[in-house]
Amino acid sequence: MKTSQTVADTLHYLADLGWEDLYRTPPGGGPAVAADPAAQAGADDEPPAAAAAAGPGLDELAARAETCTRCRLADTRQKVVFGTGDPRARLLLVGEGPGAEEDRRGLPFVGRAGELLNKILAAIGLRREDVYIANVVKCRPPGNREPQPDEVAACRSYLEAQIDTIRPEVLVCLGRVAAQTLLGSDAPIGRTRGQWFKVRGVATMVTYHPAALLRNEALKRPTWEDMQQVRDRLRETAESR
Ligand code: URA
Repeated sequence: MKTSQTVADTLHYLADLGWEDLYRTPPGGGPAVAADPAAQAGADDEPPAAAAAAGPGLDELAARAETCTRCRLADTRQKVVFGTGDPRARLLLVGEGPGAEEDRRGLPFVGRAGELLNKILAAIGLRREDVYIANVVKCRPPGNREPQPDEVAACRSYLEAQIDTIRPEVLVCLGRVAAQTLLGSDAPIGRTRGQWFKVRGVATMVTYHPAALLRNEALKRPTWEDMQQVRDRLRETAESR
């Protein structure tokens, strides 16, 4: 965590994001739902991450994914985009799947949505290299279409192994596909965003995908509210250690 982040820096990033009007937020104006993760049933029927950490390490998983042919996305990908960041990160972010630039470079969130994600992270005092970033599917769906259910199912064990291996304190689902996949729910994102769930034993926040923010400015404020909850939760867990 970048503790030396100055208020001025943060405001600068927020202004970049179009969040200048934060100053006009009325006192007490906060997220619509600020649920306690411990009190949320969520979709966590699975064992806590701590019980499952003995599998292959991230490097071994990435090597396996490199030659994966479990689904049709293997036929059209240029590069497998396994994930990147600090393997001991306290925060894990999960997007949908690689786009064109990610497919070309083999890294998640390096296009326009990635630039915005970097700013969002900076706004809560984090650098990209402090966190771990992964996707639901590790190969690009052609034409940036949504990953199909069988593709998500084929890739699922990689994501679950990433969660269990990294064992972050907080997980953030970026967008509907990540939320529905990890919560095991078909609820629209408008119903789950801003709320805490537990996924594989990890406190999990749902928020909008950065690409959605690029299309719809009005989603920036709720996303900021959600990410403030993430920031606060990380602070709380740091203080209680
Ligand atoms: N969108 C995603 O969901 N993931 C990426 O890696 C890039 C864009």
